[in-house]
Amino acid sequence: MDRRDFLRISTAVLAGAALQKPFQSLGRIPLARQTLRFPPVLNSSTLRAYETQVDVWDNYQTRAFTLNGVYPSPTIVARTGDRIQIQLQNDLPQDHIIHWHGLIVPWTMDGHPMHQIQRGQAYDYDFRIVQRAGTYFYHSHTLHLTGEQTYRGIGGFFIIHDDEEENLGLPHGDFDIPLALQDRRPNSDRQAFSYNPTMRDIMTGYMGDAVLVNGTPNATFNVNRTWYRFRLLNASNARIYLIAFEPAISFHLIATDGGLLEQPIEVSELFLAPGERAEIMVNFTQRPLNSTVRMVTKAFDIGEPPMSDQGRPMEVLELNITGTQQSNGSLPSTLSTIDRYDPQKARRTRTFNLTMFMMQPRINGIQYNLTRIDERVPLNELEIWEFVNNSNMSHPMHVHNVQFQVFQRIRNGQQQPLFPTDHGWKDTVLVRPRETVKVLVKFEPRYTGIYLFHCHNLEHEDADMMLNIELYGRVTGVSSPSPKALEAQYDPLTEQIVIAAPAASVQRPVNIVDIRGRSVFRGTMYPHQTQMRIDARSFASGLYWIQVGTWQYQVRIWR
Ligand code: C2O
Ligand code: CU
Ligand code: CU
Repeated sequence: MDRRDFLRISTAVLAGAALQKPFQSLGRIPLARQTLRFPPVLNSSTLRAYETQVDVWDNYQTRAFTLNGVYPSPTIVARTGDRIQIQLQNDLPQDHIIHWHGLIVPWTMDGHPMHQIQRGQAYDYDFRIVQRAGTYFYHSHTLHLTGEQTYRGIGGFFIIHDDEEENLGLPHGDFDIPLALQDRRPNSDRQAFSYNPTMRDIMTGYMGDAVLVNGTPNATFNVNRTWYRFRLLNASNARIYLIAFEPAISFHLIATDGGLLEQPIEVSELFLAPGERAEIMVNFTQRPLNSTVRMVTKAFDIGEPPMSDQGRPMEVLELNITGTQQSNGSLPSTLSTIDRYDPQKARRTRTFNLTMFMMQPRINGIQYNLTRIDERVPLNELEIWEFVNNSNMSHPMHVHNVQFQVFQRIRNGQQQPLFPTDHGWKDTVLVRPRETVKVLVKFEPRYTGIYLFHCHNLEHEDADMMLNIELYGRVTGVSSPSPKALEAQYDPLTEQIVIAAPAASVQRPVNIVDIRGRSVFRGTMYPHQTQMRIDARSFASGLYWIQVGTWQYQVRIWR
């Protein structure tokens, strides 16, 4: 028994005494099996964030942070080329903002904490899907509250389809199964997802000892003797999974964070770190009827110290082979094409040292500051980014607004085999203790602005293991630079408010109003003018309403 187990049992005994319940009912795994649930598909243009009760465990109502009252959050389904218009209404007792993880969107649409809104306010998202099919993710990105808000229930799938993917004949409909993995603590999370990280939790990340799949504890799912496509999303705060099956069967990796691989890769286990997605295909045609296969996370030692709970073996999902219906989907031998970047052609290398110094997780020793630019990166130039992990913790490193390619792993001076997932487009890459991972990064010439680069262990992120990256350069992408609605942003670098307005043939008055309704700026946009920069050095921190003609937009100035 390690110390952690001892602590768990002693609190369980105390809690059992206090609640006058038999000890067994507070065991680690809830007794009853529950049929795997699926979040509803979003069918409105509103996401309202509020706290309410949801059904998770047997015989309990659990207080959670939700979007539209459900946990996990609704699944968003879209096609390449779609315009997404969603209003986020914040009725949480905290500031809030949503980030679309893996999506290429304008800065003001990306959910940077600079744009977070207070309780009672709304944020209008309006962007176009400019990328390929894939399994993406959305979740809270509120400053210092990303871990808490995600743990308490806010986060869901963002699934994009396109013609290429749909023409492959992959299993679809009832045979295309999204699985969001989140670890929780059944002993303390039944009445509310209670988020109280200790110092140790902040160092290692906040982990639980049971896996919920789509919010279902102890989940079971009936399958047919046919091919399935599973979309795995690690929506956990810090837990890394080593996905496998028992009895051991091999499966086929077909897509990573940024969509399809070139060819399927046959594997028997797969690491999935927080923020990562993997689509796998599993063949149940050879399994006997009425047999059971369990998806599990296997025990592993990734090199973290004993105080870390990383590597705990747990069941993920019980699969019962109960039917013979056919999915008519099969495993294609080729899936897609990926243009391989050549490391020789990189224009420069950026090195990021990942450290734990005085128990603080850091990138290059820097503590995140909302209004400081840490790296300026030109659009459309190939760069090598090397993540050098000098610590004994794992760091899944994530870059916003780009999909990159992993090309090298080095540990203890030895070149390591790449992970199967390293062969596809990535936005999040696991860097193990004492490992250096090199990736090739090129931002599409589409959007300039301030984006984030951070560790996706959410406790590390909230402890400021995050940097601001300013993308600059010539925008030549296909998406139109003139927005469909008014957009405005505060640029902390120049201390200007930058307005981008749809083109108009008439002159329009520009008015900026502060929170008390006082006008702090008046000006004019001339016919066909679509951009305007306003000196904001004399404006106090706070919220402002930008009005251009009949359009309105909210901007927050932080200093
Ligand atoms: Cu999934 Cu910046 O986050
Ligand atoms: Cu992201
Ligand atoms: Cu980290």
